[in-house]
Amino acid sequence: MFGFSFDPNLSKEEFYKELTKTLRALVSGQRDLITNLANASSLIYHALNSLNAFKTKPVNWAGFYLTAKDNASLLRLGPFQGKVACTEIKFGRGVCGAAASTGKTQVVPNVHDFPGHIACDSSSVSEIVVPIVSPASGRVLGVLDIDDEGPEAFGEADKAGLETVVQILLESCDWTE
Ligand code: SME
Repeated sequence: MFGFSFDPNLSKEEFYKELTKTLRALVSGQRDLITNLANASSLIYHALNSLNAFKTKPVNWAGFYLTAKDNASLLRLGPFQGKVACTEIKFGRGVCGAAASTGKTQVVPNVHDFPGHIACDSSSVSEIVVPIVSPASGRVLGVLDIDDEGPEAFGEADKAGLETVVQILLESCDWTE
C-alpha cells in the first residue's frame, strides 16, 4: 500500500513533480514532525536512487538536521537514510552550517573545494542543502541535506524541486520554535 515507483528515465523536472505528489499523499492525515521527516528521508533517498541519472553516482545520504531547542545556532541530527553521521553541526560550519546561517540553498558540485566541509562519509562528493525557514518568524528550523557519491549530481532542477519538498514539510507538519 505504501509502495511507490518512478519511471527511471524521468527528467529531473518530471521527477520532482511526481516526488512532491507522492510526498503530499504520504504526509496527508499526519502532522507529527519526526514521523513525516522520517518518511520524507526514505522517500527522497530511494526515489532519487531509482533514477537512471543516479545509477553511476548514487545518493549516499538524505535527511535532516534540526535547529537545537537548547541552542539556536546549532544543528542536531534528525531523521535520515544513509550511514551514521555527525550529531551536531554549528551554524556557519560546513555546507549544512552555511545553509543554516545564510538561509539560502547550497549546491556544492565538489565538497573537496568547499572550505570547512564536514566529511561525515568520505564517499560524499557533491551535495545540496536546503534550509527550512519558518514563514512566521524567518528563523531557520533546520536543513534538508542530500549527499552524492559523484561530482555535480545536483543543479537548478534539484534546487527548485527540493525547495518545494521543504515547503510541503513546513505546511504539513507541526514545527515548534
Ligand atoms: N555534509 C555536511 C555534513 C553532514 S553529513 O554529510 C551527513 C556538511 O558538510 O555540512
